[in-house]
Amino acid sequence: MGRFKLSKPLAFAAVALAATPLLAAPADDVRTRVSGLRELGAAFKAVNDGLRASEPQMIMIQMSAKQIKNAATQMPSWFPKGSGPESGAKTAAKAEIWSQPAKFKAAQDAFVAEANNLQKASASNDVAAIRASTAKLGGTCKGCHDTFRVPRT
Ligand code: HEC
Repeated sequence: MGRFKLSKPLAFAAVALAATPLLAAPADDVRTRVSGLRELGAAFKAVNDGLRASEPQMIMIQMSAKQIKNAATQMPSWFPKGSGPESGAKTAAKAEIWSQPAKFKAAQDAFVAEANNLQKASASNDVAAIRASTAKLGGTCKGCHDTFRVPRT
């Protein structure tokens, strides 16, 4: 039984370790979200760059369209409750994301639908269709940002 004398300090240590991620969570959530959104931004830029090239860069466009689709799949997990401005974390996410969940979900759904369309268009190698769905996709980025992101100063 002697060795169980260690259990109390160990229990404290376990509680302290378990509490640390909880305290750090909002900042971590924002970090995960922002890095995902930066990758999304880079992929969207790559599609536009690929379209602007004198000869459309199909491989780059297709790879980037796939990345955008992956981002669309992950996006719903990027906005956990408690990761908004009320957390004190530095974020451009507006409180309306959580106070108007149906409206936010509609903005996400519009984006997901256009991300799927872009991926289909890019797989078809149809440059006109890719151009059209890239423009529509860009509209869904803007649609969400205009309502749910604090504008850059
Ligand atoms: C459903 C809402 C929504 C959609 C759709 C959306 N975004 Fe965003 N985006 C946000 C929010 C909210 C932020 C601010 C995140 C933060 O600061 O925590 C943001 C931030 C960003 C950032 C800045 C990240 C940084 O460096 O701080 C980039 C880049 C970005 N989005 C690109 C895009 C692109 C490109 C698309 C479309 C292909 C897109 N977003 C679609 C909501 C959205």
